[in-house]
Amino acid sequence: MKITESAGQDIGAVVEDFDYAAASSADIDAIKSTVYTRKIVVLKNQDLTPQQLLEVGKRFGRPETYYEPMYKHPEVEEVFVSSNVPKDGKQIGVPKTGKFWHADYQFMPDPFGLTIIYPQVIPQNNRGTYFIDMGKAYERLPEDLKKEVAGTFCQHSVRKYFKIRPTDVYRPLSEIIEEVDTKTPPVVKPSAFIHPMTGETVLYNSEGFTVDIQDEQGKPMETDLLQRLFEATGQLDETFSHPNIHLQTFEKGDLLVWDNRSLIHRARHTTTPEPTVSFRVTVHDERKLYDEVPA
Ligand SMILES: [Fe+2]
Repeated sequence: MKITESAGQDIGAVVEDFDYAAASSADIDAIKSTVYTRKIVVLKNQDLTPQQLLEVGKRFGRPETYYEPMYKHPEVEEVFVSSNVPKDGKQIGVPKTGKFWHADYQFMPDPFGLTIIYPQVIPQNNRGTYFIDMGKAYERLPEDLKKEVAGTFCQHSVRKYFKIRPTDVYRPLSEIIEEVDTKTPPVVKPSAFIHPMTGETVLYNSEGFTVDIQDEQGKPMETDLLQRLFEATGQLDETFSHPNIHLQTFEKGDLLVWDNRSLIHRARHTTTPEPTVSFRVTVHDERKLYDEVPA
């Protein structure tokens, strides 16, 4: 197994000759520490069934099965399927996922540390995913903005981007919204936390899931601070040319492992719809998203 950091950029490393079944625990640890420092690691030339993809995930941590059944792979429920390509005339998984800035499971009480993506059908023209390293983004904030963020909390919710399920047809919208709020009530987390693996300060917000910013007492703040943070971190740049934005491309056989604490990501928008399918497994590593600071 060989790990090579991508030259000339902060993000990225490539791993060659990785075999999930033969890899030693030292190999897995080496890959994981590279994920924490380089944020995205691409394991090259992988040829995996959905079950084997899950086995890879298990080498890296404890898999988290997505809470909404419609995303699940029909044979391996821990595998989340994003697809706009029907299989035998049937929709498998969900199309057009993640076309907004987010961290995976950001709206949940206990988000996982690692996301593993295995692209299956790769679009010809608009391949790739956009990423922002929110640790780097924090570092680059003007000092006065860092001061404003200190001691505040953000509220995250799936409300804005919850996808209506086939079973929701003919249901009143209010009932669906009530169900979403009951099943996945908004969660509150510090606006910035210390990454437990690297010690970096990471800003934790996204345009897709973060709905409010609060003071230490949990009182919503009458401020446009959240908007200014979206702006400063590059999330409002629809040209994707902001220096914080990294476009990660991939090819068939690539397996991407990324740091879901530091990175927010967004599916690349396509002007013309192209077939695209990817499988995903998400895992908890040894630590929580961040360590609670005793009050
Ligand atoms: Fe995602």
